[in-house]
Amino acid sequence: EHEFHLKPKPVALASNGIFGKFDRQQLQRGFQVYKEVCAACHSISLVAFRDLAALGYSEAEVKAIANQWTTEQPSVNPETGEAATRKNLPSDKFPHVYPNEVAARAANNNAIPPDLSLMTKARPDGAAYVHSLLTGYQQPSAELMKEFPNFATPEGLYFNPYFPTLNLAMPQPLVSDGQVTYADGTNATVDQMAKDVTAFLVWTAEPKLEARHTAGLASVVFLIIFIALTIGAYKSVWRNVK
Ligand code: HEM
Repeated sequence: EHEFHLKPKPVALASNGIFGKFDRQQLQRGFQVYKEVCAACHSISLVAFRDLAALGYSEAEVKAIANQWTTEQPSVNPETGEAATRKNLPSDKFPHVYPNEVAARAANNNAIPPDLSLMTKARPDGAAYVHSLLTGYQQPSAELMKEFPNFATPEGLYFNPYFPTLNLAMPQPLVSDGQVTYADGTNATVDQMAKDVTAFLVWTAEPKLEARHTAGLASVVFLIIFIALTIGAYKSVWRNVK
């Protein structure tokens, strides 16, 4: 008995654990990977351009990112009332990549590239899953072929043992080292790009993660002090009772 659908490999991110904080340089690199690779097919429609200020971009940088984003916002021509587009503003959410589901399917072998805003929350062990999926494209194992000699990956699909059904419609998006040229000079290996975009997608799914960690820690510290005081008060109240 083999399990051919693999469990994701753990991924070490700065935001992991109760003391976890985002690594803003990494989030910026991850955004760069999203922008230059993933955004061709996937939206992050729950994120607004101005939210990127949290990654350390200045107001002017956010404006420039919105202004230069290649997919524009749906709009109408005020003269004719016909459908048109306009440039993105910092207050806009990231636009959808395709105008509708038919267009999305037509471009992706009948599959829809899901919105990535909440992906790291939507899948079990989501951050590890995204990282493993991106770095997990490979040939079907010998065991799989032995147990299922007729196993095949249909034309237009790609094998990936981290995908629940093993074949998916996404071609390997991160293929070669140096596919992006990082602004901060970090060496862009496939694994580095996969980790960085994963870190970015952890942020899109939970931008207030740090506040949650801080609040949790503060409440634990409060409880420790409160318990100490309670024990002290208890002892003092019952001091003279035999
Ligand atoms: C699916 C991430 C680039 C097309 C997915 C899934 C993730 C993902 C996490 C979901 C798998 C699931 O449903 O569990 C990414 C990231 C990318 C990237 C992080 C950039 C590094 C691309 C590109 C394309 C694409 C460039 C188009 C050429 C698709 C499609 C699916 C998909 C069609 C649906 C697959 C299916 O259900 O069979 N992607 N993706 N992705 N992606 Fe991407």
